[in-house]
Amino acid sequence: MVSNEVLLEYQAQFPFLNQSIDKPIVYLDSAATTQKPKCVIDALNQHLLNFTANVHRGGHRLGREATAQFEAARIAVQGFINAKHAHEIIWTSGTTESINQLANILSGQIQPGDTIVTSILEHHANFVPWQQMAQRQNANFCVVPLDESQTTVCMKSFRQMLEKQPKIVALSHVSNALGTIHEIKTLCQLAKNAGAFVIVDGAQAIGHLPIDVQALGCDFYTFSGHKMYAPDGIGVLYGREDLLEALPPWQFGGEMVKRVSVEETTFNQLPYKFEAGTPNISAVIGLHTAIDFLTQFDQSQRLTHEQQLLHAMYDGLLEIDGICLLSPRENNVGVLSFTVEDEHHADIAMMLDQFDIAVRAGHHCAMPLMGALGTSGSTRASIGLYNTKEDIDYFIQSLNKTIRLLTV
Ligand code: ALA
Repeated sequence: MVSNEVLLEYQAQFPFLNQSIDKPIVYLDSAATTQKPKCVIDALNQHLLNFTANVHRGGHRLGREATAQFEAARIAVQGFINAKHAHEIIWTSGTTESINQLANILSGQIQPGDTIVTSILEHHANFVPWQQMAQRQNANFCVVPLDESQTTVCMKSFRQMLEKQPKIVALSHVSNALGTIHEIKTLCQLAKNAGAFVIVDGAQAIGHLPIDVQALGCDFYTFSGHKMYAPDGIGVLYGREDLLEALPPWQFGGEMVKRVSVEETTFNQLPYKFEAGTPNISAVIGLHTAIDFLTQFDQSQRLTHEQQLLHAMYDGLLEIDGICLLSPRENNVGVLSFTVEDEHHADIAMMLDQFDIAVRAGHHCAMPLMGALGTSGSTRASIGLYNTKEDIDYFIQSLNKTIRLLTV
């Protein structure tokens, strides 16, 4: 385990741990959204109190200051994911908007009969936009099934699908429902070799793993701020410069234009070409603070802490009769999905709430995966850097009591 000092240093940053609504909650739902550290809350407040102004517009000093902070955040994201250029970072409202934007700007590349590949493990944000695009364009929609471990994609099927030379391959870095870290670098390389546009949904990876988009070799990488201790309503679409230069914008309006006349419009340079309208300025600044927050800690220590909690939770769950674990113990960011024999996942989550434990129950916005696993849903407990071994012990103890209460 990491030392108590380090753990206290993590915990000290989260007002939530001491100020939850009525009594402390053991928060095991960080895969849905993370709690926010004080520095992020303060950065939002400071911006709104002192620097409220639109960006790239006003000639006044408030506007200049807001613009400087806004663009500094873009450079921070560039460094955080090792993009080659800051103008490859496009602000969006979150992963869902990033992927929908991609499905629109890439639609001119898809002809009837082309193939689009995704996997059965995707959450709806990286599934439905491609399915709908395939329907609109009369393209083939191919879904990579699970492998025999039932926790990651089947490599053999993936290779077979690549023989069709798909135009688009869209895969998650980490499964939101199971926590599995996919072999994303290999998947990206295979898809690139097959000539596809390669899109990686990094929503569940960004808060845990080091991300290097150049080393991954993907064309696009998407994520949300709210799963990495930043505010909600802000996300990123990273795209390779040459592709973003060549692709058309999807949303039209202010800021994304260079010249507008009655006859025609010319578009702004990157990244503004893809950022129509007033962005979520305060959340962008909050995201920058969240990056500074995360990078102040030793990353391998942070990962070790989360892995130790994950293993303690996995081993604790294994000892409970009637539990069926859907998630893997290894290659997992800290998300455990499970079902309980003869009990409904919603009842388990509701009872855990009575013990002041927050988990998610349901299909986790991944209905195709739940179908493939033969269940309508599961209970999911997910770890953030603020969790402790005491949280895990209390969760296991309370789950044992819950099952006993439900079966009497
Ligand atoms: N995608 C989010 C989750 O996994 C909402 O809970």
